[in-house]
Amino acid sequence: MLSLFAGRTFPAWFDAWHRRRAFQGAYGRRQWGEGKDGEFFSGAGSRGACANTYVECISRIVESRSKESDRPLAVVDLGCGDFSVGRRLIERTANVRYIGCDIVPELVQAHRANVSDTRASFQELDIVAGDLPDGDIVLVREVLQHLCNADVSRVLEKLGKYKEVYITEARPLFLEGPSNPDKPSGPGVRWDWRTGRGRGIDLDKPPFELKIEEVCRSRHNDLEEVVTFRVSCAS
Ligand SMILES: C[S@@+](CC[C@H](N)C(=O)[O-])C[C@H]1O[C@@H](n2cnc3c(N)ncnc32)[C@H](O)[C@@H]1O
Repeated sequence: MLSLFAGRTFPAWFDAWHRRRAFQGAYGRRQWGEGKDGEFFSGAGSRGACANTYVECISRIVESRSKESDRPLAVVDLGCGDFSVGRRLIERTANVRYIGCDIVPELVQAHRANVSDTRASFQELDIVAGDLPDGDIVLVREVLQHLCNADVSRVLEKLGKYKEVYITEARPLFLEGPSNPDKPSGPGVRWDWRTGRGRGIDLDKPPFELKIEEVCRSRHNDLEEVVTFRVSCAS
């Protein structure tokens, strides 16, 4: 009853509250798996072969851009999750400043308390509703796949301010049905992860229709792969 009232009276506030609760709940229930000693855990995709391929590829790009820069290169990681990927990226680059953003406040507080690398900072941010931090390169890894199409569009509209945009998405190996089916924002995905059938996000197809260039791809298992694109979001 109360949420019906809140949803009708303050729809933007209610949507933001709902998004935050959904991802707090996912970590609280260990929906993406268990971290050691109760640490936050962003899922199997943040470890293993897919993460290795990504770190290898993106760190090469970041390292080369940072060499061209006369100040530390600012890398913004939207939906940074448990920071296992971000940590490995900055370990490989000297001249970098890393800004990790996530919607889950207790995860951001934990990073602030535990990460000692002074090149890394963390912000509690709902990337759908909030203003994105300034930076040179923006990374969005396995985040959009959890959002509804309208929320994905709201994020994409804001990425034009970065010089380079890298979006990484998991997707099923057995493509079925029309592109970009919608879903409610929350920790689940668009496809059936038990059978590897359905569709992920196709950034180059309606309603997004962006120019994309694949930079790396890796098999997660027999059902899913993880693909990273350089995306043109210039407004
Ligand atoms: C599957 S995890 C991926 C984490 C990390 N990017 C990686 O690849 O290891 C998705 C992350 O996106 C965050 N997230 C989801 N919606 C968000 C939003 N609207 N604003 C900021 N972060 C969000 C979640 O809290 C979660 O930490």
